[in-house]
Amino acid sequence: MKNIAYLKLNWLSIFLIFMLFVIGGLVRSTGSGMGCPDWPKCFGEYIPPISESELPADYEAYFKDQRLKKTKRFTALLDMIGFDEKADAIRNDTQVEQSHKFNVVKAYIEYINRLLGALTGIVVFICFLLSLKYVRSNPIVFWYTLAGFIFVFINALLGAIVVHSNLIGSIVTIHFIAAFASICFFLLARRYARVHEYNTVDKKTKQVGLVMMVLSTIQVILGAEVRELYDLLPTLGTAAAKIDGMYPTIQWHAAFGAIVLVVSIYQFITAQKGTFISQYSRWIMLMCIGQILWGPMALLESTESISKLFHITLGAGIFVLQFYICTSYLRQYKKA
Ligand code: HEM
Repeated sequence: MKNIAYLKLNWLSIFLIFMLFVIGGLVRSTGSGMGCPDWPKCFGEYIPPISESELPADYEAYFKDQRLKKTKRFTALLDMIGFDEKADAIRNDTQVEQSHKFNVVKAYIEYINRLLGALTGIVVFICFLLSLKYVRSNPIVFWYTLAGFIFVFINALLGAIVVHSNLIGSIVTIHFIAAFASICFFLLARRYARVHEYNTVDKKTKQVGLVMMVLSTIQVILGAEVRELYDLLPTLGTAAAKIDGMYPTIQWHAAFGAIVLVVSIYQFITAQKGTFISQYSRWIMLMCIGQILWGPMALLESTESISKLFHITLGAGIFVLQFYICTSYLRQYKKA
């Protein structure tokens, strides 16, 4: 069954989820994560104010108090479902106690992030409705789309928790993983929906692609650990002090980055020429070179912000393209 509408919406869902990574990187690199101290509203409004004068004098204390109350409810829930340690970690985290001054740029960056999130939710839901057409003829498309939809939904809830817990590292990481999971499910659904397409991938290309997939996954996980450590460092510090503070994870991440780059070059050289795999492998290799350049720049104060933005975007790009390559091994058709 050909379903152009489904494929278009599926593509749009993947694109929008990816854009959430990009804007998420912008939120992070500009430190706008707490640009809106409440959720889903921003400073109590659906359209954030443009000046501090529009807010009541005691707004900082008010939003801090609101967030502390929500965090208390959230940690009580964690206690109830058996995550006592996590609940204690959140309770003892000094970040939760911080209050946030209004900053129009940060508020609007975070607000656009939320608008994009809401638009993604709507598109993903329409895509899910269109996938109902496949329930009988090609049920796997329906199930993968449903899984993708559920993960986007989970991420929307996690988005709120990220704000309520004041950007605690491990929750940001779970938020990241859920976004990766949703994009992967939509890519899988796409692969199974394109029944008229055939792929013939040779054994070696497959093996190299799978090795590259495993390595990029490990590298993204190491990257998330580096980010968690990075956020615990004092704001001002030399690159050497930052490296010391993140020892040995940052060393592992950098060394692994070099391995990922070498394998990406090998994948490009050995991929069957003229195929989409060869084309995508070139992009992956170029993005890996970009990562090796942008990574160390995250340690320098002058380039920290821009580096974080590109580093997150390219890291997500490498993972997503490599996953898409690997989905082509799942369903192979012989020429009639
Ligand atoms: C192929 C190579 C690489 C890939 C795929 C990669 C990927 C990633 C990812 C996905 C993150 C997590 C971003 C986040 O969760 O917010 C990250 C963080 C980070 N990476 Fe890499 N990385 C690579 C190479 C490097 C290299 C060579 C360095 C050099 C030191 C480096 C330094 C960092 C730093 C400092 C962070 C923390 C940035 C932040 O706080 O946002 N990376 N990396």
